[in-house]
Amino acid sequence: MINFILFLIIIALTAASIFSVFFALRLFQTGVPFIPTPDPIVEKMIELAELTSEKKFVDLGCGEGKIVRAAGKLGARGSGYELIKPLVWYSTLRNKLENLPIEFRSDDFFTANLENIDVIFCYLWPSAMKKFWENFGETLTPGTKIISHAFEIPQLTPEKIEEMGKSKIFVYRVGAQIPAEKI
Ligand SMILES: C[S@@+](CC[C@H](N)C(=O)[O-])C[C@H]1O[C@@H](n2cnc3c(N)ncnc32)[C@H](O)[C@@H]1O
Repeated sequence: MINFILFLIIIALTAASIFSVFFALRLFQTGVPFIPTPDPIVEKMIELAELTSEKKFVDLGCGEGKIVRAAGKLGARGSGYELIKPLVWYSTLRNKLENLPIEFRSDDFFTANLENIDVIFCYLWPSAMKKFWENFGETLTPGTKIISHAFEIPQLTPEKIEEMGKSKIFVYRVGAQIPAEKI
């Protein structure tokens, strides 16, 4: 019995070490750590998104996929991009059981085509928010909503800021006028 418990502990420690290596490598690459959005904030982000089954969405850096799942439960079609492979494996496996109209991609979201997306979710880092707009600002479809947990897009003025305790959610609408001093 003790041998079996020791065996399980060794397996758990080995798995934890492998996951830690994945996390550390990706953090070094992206500068954005994996920190899941708390559930009440996910609920508010989903409410602000006003999704229907007609709409398409994406989560840029979806972590373990909780925002993608919550949006998919409304019937909206969407995807999550994530570089930490074990998180993508987990989300994909979980969706095999839940069968929502969503998919998880083990890709860098900076390679994504974000045209004709109705809602973009993100919880990144200030430098990544700036780079996001530099990369996609020209190609996003007017009317696309961007819902960002915690961090602003420095080049834009938000349409709405929702405060939840110490946290903030920033809502942007592509095509809204950009004040010159923010560019
Ligand atoms: C703060 S977590 C947010 C996770 C999830 N969106 C949530 O709110 O619960 C940010 C995630 O973005 C991922 N990430 C950062 N840069 C990325 C990139 N260029 N492409 C894909 N994923 C990225 C990180 O690996 C991390 O898991």
